[in-house]
Amino acid sequence: MKTIVITGSSSGIGKATAKYFAEKGWKVAATMRRPENEIELNQLDNVSLYALDVTDEASIANATQQILRDFGTVDVVLNNAGYAVAGPFEATTAEQIQRQFATNVFGLMSVTRAFLPHFRANKAGLFLNVSSIGGRVTFPFLSLYHSTKWAVEGFSESLAYELGELGIRVKIIEPGGVDTDFAGRSMVFAVEEGLTAYNEALGKFQANQGKSGLAANTADFLAEGIYNAATDGKTQLRYLIGPDAEQVYGMRQQIGDDAFVAGVKERMLSTC
Ligand SMILES: NC(=O)c1ccc[n+]([C@@H]2O[C@H](COP(=O)([O-])OP(=O)(O)OC[C@H]3O[C@@H](n4cnc5c(N)ncnc54)[C@H](OP(=O)(O)O)[C@@H]3O)[C@@H](O)[C@H]2O)c1
Repeated sequence: MKTIVITGSSSGIGKATAKYFAEKGWKVAATMRRPENEIELNQLDNVSLYALDVTDEASIANATQQILRDFGTVDVVLNNAGYAVAGPFEATTAEQIQRQFATNVFGLMSVTRAFLPHFRANKAGLFLNVSSIGGRVTFPFLSLYHSTKWAVEGFSESLAYELGELGIRVKIIEPGGVDTDFAGRSMVFAVEEGLTAYNEALGKFQANQGKSGLAANTADFLAEGIYNAATDGKTQLRYLIGPDAEQVYGMRQQIGDDAFVAGVKERMLSTC
């Protein structure tokens, strides 16, 4: 039986993927910050819950040890946990900057490092790192989030060279828009009282948000795409998942960086 470890499985893409792999007969280590609150995944035969906060090294070490003891072999690690800080960069606090990177980048790196000795010993294993279409293009007022996902892209692409030499693979998952709690509870808005210089642009951005070109794919659709990336046997590095993601990135490739950025500015920062 194949095995997968998933971070951030309490909701959204992580939870849907845990269910999908379990249905396909995989053993799933569904990790999350508060497994005691989970009432759905703990009902499934092939799913085991583990406490893992990607910003806490001790919790990563404990979960890794327990999972390897219980499972024996891990085939795939899905680095999925993440959230977004939105709003004007100037309004963000040092703590918000640190925490955004601690979760989306350093947490992903720490989980990767924790499972590497096991993968190296097996001369096999696959890291699926969840980036975003936002790791290939950017939109206004999301500079922190985009910078973490662009970091995940560069980290993963470079890491793939050295791990490939050891029989370990790295793939990058790039969802388009997904209908999860992400834009709600996983989005923090940076606000600084008295900082009004960005209000006009923010107002335009908010009025034009529907013009990003992104659509609402379901978490189940993402789960299927992630399963495909895990099982297709290909050496493909990047998986854009969602017709919206393919369309938006296709446009960037077609017209080039400058025209694409000008187009986003025109659509999203113009007066309606
Ligand atoms: N939704 C989209 O449109 C979209 C598009 C592209 C990429 N993505 C990426 O997809 C991934 C999953 O997002 P989602 O859409 O499924 O949103 P979601 O439903 O809000 O899920 C986010 C998950 O990350 C977990 N998490 C946050 N901080 C964590 C930490 N320190 N340690 C462990 N887990 C942590 C959350 O756990 P708690 O329950 O403990 O908060 C939650 O399970 C993220 O990396 C996101 O950037 C999403």
